[in-house]
Amino acid sequence: MKSETGDHSLRLSLRVLPQVDTAKLAPYFENMPLDPYVPGGFRHHRLSCLEWDGEKLLVRPERRIFQSAYINPIAGNIVREYPPVQRTLLKEPSFLELVKIFHHFSGLPVKTIFDVHMLRTQVVKDNIAEAAPEGVHRDDVDFLGIFCVNRHNLKGGTTFIYQNKEDETPMLCKTLRPGELLLVNDNHVYHYSNKVYAAGPGPAYRDVLILTTPTLMQ
Ligand SMILES: [Fe+2]
Repeated sequence: MKSETGDHSLRLSLRVLPQVDTAKLAPYFENMPLDPYVPGGFRHHRLSCLEWDGEKLLVRPERRIFQSAYINPIAGNIVREYPPVQRTLLKEPSFLELVKIFHHFSGLPVKTIFDVHMLRTQVVKDNIAEAAPEGVHRDDVDFLGIFCVNRHNLKGGTTFIYQNKEDETPMLCKTLRPGELLLVNDNHVYHYSNKVYAAGPGPAYRDVLILTTPTLMQ
C-alpha cells in the first residue's frame, strides 16, 4: 500500500499552526464514542476516509480499517469500523487548513486519499489511559500528521520518535500543545505517546487529529 507520491526525504517536521483555530475544532470532541477495540474505556475514536481535491474535501465510501497484529498488537488482525467524523467538522475552515498543510508539507498531490482519526484519550479512575496503547510502533503508512487540538487538565501524553523500535534514546521527545502539528515519515521512524494523568481534580483528556496516508481502509 506504500505510495510513490510525497516528499520521502521528509523524516520529521514540527510545525506551529496559528492559522488553525483549535477553539473551533475542540467542540467536535465532546460526546466522542468509545473505541470498542481498546480495553480500559479511556480511548474514544472517530474515523473517516477522505480525499482532498484541492478545493474541497470528498468523503470516501470506505469505512473499515485493517492493520496486522505485527503493526498493531492491541487491535490488529481485526477489521475495525468506527463512527465517522462529523460532516460539519469537515466544513470547518480550520480543519480544511490543517488538511492543506498536511498535504503541502508531506509533498502530496491533490487527489490523495487519506484517513483522519479523531482521538480522545481520557483519564479514567485507575490511571491506565495510554495515548498509544500499542507501544512504540509504526502505522504502516507513508506519512502521518499528529495535530494537538486540546489538552485539558493533563500531564503526560508526550510523543516520542525513535529511529529504531528497540532504541532507548528517542530522536525527539515533545509534548504537543494545542495548535502544534508533528509530521512523521512512517517509513523511516517509529512513534509513541505515553500515558496521560490528571493534573488536578475533574475531567482530564487529550484530543488529537491524526491524518495518515495512504489509506488503510478496505
Ligand atoms: Fe500510531
